[in-house]
Amino acid sequence: IAQRINVDKNAPPEVPYWIPYLGSAISFSLNPVKFYEDNRKKYGDVYTYTMVGRKFTVCLGTEGSNFVFNSKLADVSAEESYKPLTTPVFGKGVVYDCPNHQLMEQKKFVKWGMSNDAFRAYVPDIEEETKSYFKRWNNKDGGREDLFKAMGELIINTASRTLMGPEIRGLMDESVAQLYHDLDDGFQPINMFFEWLPLPSYFRRDSAHKKMRETFMKVIEERRANNITDKTDMLQSLMNQTYKDGTPFTDVDACHLMIALLMAGQHTSSTTACWALLFLAQQPDLVKDLLAEQKDVLGSLDAPLNFDDLKNMPLLDNVVRETLRLRPPIIMILRRVMRPIAFPGTNYVIPKGHELAASPIATQVDERYYKNANHFDPRRWESIVEEESGESVDYGFGKIAGGGARNPSLPFGAGRHRCIGESFAYVQLKTVISTFLRMYEISLTEKGMPGCDYTKMFVQPTLPVEVNYKPRK
Ligand code: HEM
Repeated sequence: IAQRINVDKNAPPEVPYWIPYLGSAISFSLNPVKFYEDNRKKYGDVYTYTMVGRKFTVCLGTEGSNFVFNSKLADVSAEESYKPLTTPVFGKGVVYDCPNHQLMEQKKFVKWGMSNDAFRAYVPDIEEETKSYFKRWNNKDGGREDLFKAMGELIINTASRTLMGPEIRGLMDESVAQLYHDLDDGFQPINMFFEWLPLPSYFRRDSAHKKMRETFMKVIEERRANNITDKTDMLQSLMNQTYKDGTPFTDVDACHLMIALLMAGQHTSSTTACWALLFLAQQPDLVKDLLAEQKDVLGSLDAPLNFDDLKNMPLLDNVVRETLRLRPPIIMILRRVMRPIAFPGTNYVIPKGHELAASPIATQVDERYYKNANHFDPRRWESIVEEESGESVDYGFGKIAGGGARNPSLPFGAGRHRCIGESFAYVQLKTVISTFLRMYEISLTEKGMPGCDYTKMFVQPTLPVEVNYKPRK
């Protein structure tokens, strides 16, 4: 009753709770997908729940996603929602610690490292890193290994080699990997609520941020001192940028943006690679078809991979899409409501101060949009024509219609904050998966398919994730 007294008549329905302040935090964090679906059945696509003293209004379904992703800048703010989490890790002056128009320009600065020419150079490097990493799975009769750990270590090597530059890749086996782990420990959902707590992980995070910035800065200074201008990595392109209004994009800004890219791209890609291979471990016939597709396009399974040929492998492309439909690493996207906003087609007015939440996974596993929604079936994409919004997306492999915010599958978000790394992620994932499949046959252990751990920043399989492997003859 107390919860109801002050409720504004036009506010969306509220999920009741028993424990003040904590609200629905426990049931939400145990399984947010179930929480969203159970409450959708009771309250419809738009409703409010309380967690740790904050009000969240989730907007489900394609209209809900469109509302969150396309709300006006004056009405909602991503910066207000994310800043306590991201600024201590990324650093000041970039992403959510600057005016939105500067973030939009930073996304343009980064585009350079995501061009097709850049991808042509990256594919052989990623293939080589993958082969070299997996030399350690070297038992000729096969064995059992930790796939999650392997993908985490491999992706940090491939991303650093391609985006961060050879100097940083060279340090990856020593100092930088440890700094990355300390930063990562300080990049957890708890930080959004308790940024003021003196947790030991926050001290390690702050020290790792400082050392990471110094590492990037040293590389920049050496490149400048030696007049090195022929590098084609992201760092080089960020060293030469100025905002349109003449404001300098400083070397410190460049270091901070590099850290942001490292953090944004790491777990998202490594968990996706891990899930894709786990799904494939259950479907050996699909693996045969993927190898046949490679052979068809390249002539032989010994031929090196290249960016242009990867574009002609639709089944591989659909394996990545389907993995991201079922296991998107980011399951809650937030915007702080800055002034009351009406949800179209209803009486609801969402009050100022609420966190507006979109959850792509909720629509991605919704039977209203996908038949047999929980089944991994990459071939479903062969018959899906996505075009309702008229917009299109280019994942780096040609334009795909339906890129608008009403698309039921939005693992990379939509609108002004849409991911900048999606083309890179596709290139990286396709190269890693196809190289891995050439090297090994894998199967699940007696434990079967791992469940989802929703307590981390990016949803991951419950650990440990061991698989049986056998070198492919
Ligand atoms: C934003 C997903 C890989 C850099 C986002 C958002 C999603 C997402 C859903 C939107 C967040 C929001 O609207 O609040 C993914 C997935 C990936 C991936 C599923 C891989 C499978 C990458 C990579 C990079 C990257 C490889 C960089 C190299 C970023 C950045 C943003 C972002 C900088 C912030 C954009 C903004 O707020 O305007 N990503 N991402 N991501 N992503 Fe990714």
